[in-house]
Amino acid sequence: MVKPIMSNFIKEYKFNSEICSSIYSYSNVGSTNNIARTIMQKNNTKNFAVVAQVQTSGYGRRGNFWESPQGGLWSSLLIEPSFDLKFVGLIPCLCALSVAKTLKQYKIDTRLKWPNDILFLEDNNKLGGILVEGKVTQVSMEYLIIGIGLNVNNRMDQFSPQLRNKITSTYIVKKEEINVLELYHKILKNLETGLEVINASQGELVLREWKEWANILDFRLKIISNNIQYEGLAHDILSDGRLILRMDDGRLIKFSSGNVTSLGSNQ
Ligand code: BTN
Repeated sequence: MVKPIMSNFIKEYKFNSEICSSIYSYSNVGSTNNIARTIMQKNNTKNFAVVAQVQTSGYGRRGNFWESPQGGLWSSLLIEPSFDLKFVGLIPCLCALSVAKTLKQYKIDTRLKWPNDILFLEDNNKLGGILVEGKVTQVSMEYLIIGIGLNVNNRMDQFSPQLRNKITSTYIVKKEEINVLELYHKILKNLETGLEVINASQGELVLREWKEWANILDFRLKIISNNIQYEGLAHDILSDGRLILRMDDGRLIKFSSGNVTSLGSNQ
């Protein structure tokens, strides 16, 4: 048993899977990604997950504050990657896909937005996001932390006013509460399967499925990357997870990250 590292540790749930042997649950933490990293460093262990009821300093991409009130899924899975390094850029897409497939099991239809957003299909409001961090060099991957944030049993008044027309929760769209831990178990199972197929299919299957869920190739996008704004048509996603944008002058530009706004379908 790994020693809990904070007083608000609640419980260890055993989880019988290659990628995760235990889920450590906490009440309040700063960020589950940071707790997972600390547990790894203190206990020299990998392949476990951390969930928290509330995060007080959760963060998303570009370090943006991630509001994480009670009722949501705030989770981090820390793994020793067993897939080929060349697929690391696909991992956020694979995680988003695993969340989307799990939500489908609850009859919630979503759309994926590159690189890591999960949107409710009917109104394009954000249900959740993925933040993958880790120690990856040119030649090896020591560990990856897969942070998944999903608004589950949350009511709109738990979020700040400026977020309210951009986000939603599974409760808001279904009017039903979901057991957060059960939901996370299902996500982990889907993720485990996805990680197996990534090597077996050279990333192709994950990429193909992600493109179907994202339906991105019909969309005009505005991408801000390194403070430069680009506008064009989403052209393709590469097997390393990069997005290709076709500019109006015909140039093809590849992005590995960026702040993306959809300007609507081109059809
Ligand atoms: C995004 O920018 O869309 C990604 C958000 C990821 C948030 C999750 S919540 C659990 C984990 N802990 C964090 O501090 N961030 C991630």
